Amino acid sequence: MVKKIIPQGERLADKAIYLHEDRYEGPKEIFKFIAGMLDGKLSTTGKMLDVGCATGELIFFLKKKFPGFSFTGIDVSESLIQRAKEKIPSEKFVCSDILTKPFKSREKFDVVFCIGVLSILDEIDAPLKNLLSCVKGDGTLIVAGMFNDEPIDVLMRYKPAAEESSKWLTGWNTFSTYSYERILKSMPYDLELEWSGFRMPYQIKKGPDPMRSWTIKTGENPFQQVNGACQLVNIKVLRVRVKRKLRP
Ligand SMILES: C[S@@+](CC[C@H](N)C(=O)[O-])C[C@H]1O[C@@H](n2cnc3c(N)ncnc32)[C@H](O)[C@@H]1O
Repeated sequence: MVKKIIPQGERLADKAIYLHEDRYEGPKEIFKFIAGMLDGKLSTTGKMLDVGCATGELIFFLKKKFPGFSFTGIDVSESLIQRAKEKIPSEKFVCSDILTKPFKSREKFDVVFCIGVLSILDEIDAPLKNLLSCVKGDGTLIVAGMFNDEPIDVLMRYKPAAEESSKWLTGWNTFSTYSYERILKSMPYDLELEWSGFRMPYQIKKGPDPMRSWTIKTGENPFQQVNGACQLVNIKVLRVRVKRKLRP
């Protein structure tokens, strides 16, 4: 229904950003935050999957922290996957789409990550189902990004106003924690959900691209992330423990 009203927007930013930036040695704060959540909670060996891995920066970081694990990354962009393969030849990278099938084999993983991806999509039911299907019994799914604490799902489109030929772009949809919980609880798994708020620990200055977030000082938060679409960029991490599948 929603799709008929608003066609899925394009997402052009990621290739431009990730092919021109190198955060391998300077990992994102959210990566450190997520690794901290897993510290002491994993066995020493196993398998991890990063869905929407871009050029593999999270995998590069986690490989150092959890050297006994093997890693797989998937991304819808062939050029980002190519860069990941060149940078981290020891791990496996596959071009695939989370909206349809995340990963062709029926392989299962101890931990599955999906960081900053679901805000690009106009629906989360199919992707969440696909993500859960990759998690082993007693494994963990970690989803990070923007979530709305109010029970309101937000689809947004933006357009650089000075670029007359620009299409309407996507990347900042904000589904509610309510919808995440409703969808996950409707799936045939015994799950435990835990939400954690992430706060940027330092100032980020506004750059030339107003759709790259920066921080402003508010009464609540000295480093409140915002973007050029008038949004407060409040990042959360959803940790889903998949205790077992209820039906085959
Ligand atoms: C904002 S980037 C986040 C990259 C990385 N997870 C991070 O946190 O740095 C979103 C990534 O999701 C990928 N992506 C977008 N739609 C996808 C889809 N339907 N299936 C798989 N990957 C997708 C994009 O190509 C891009 O690399």
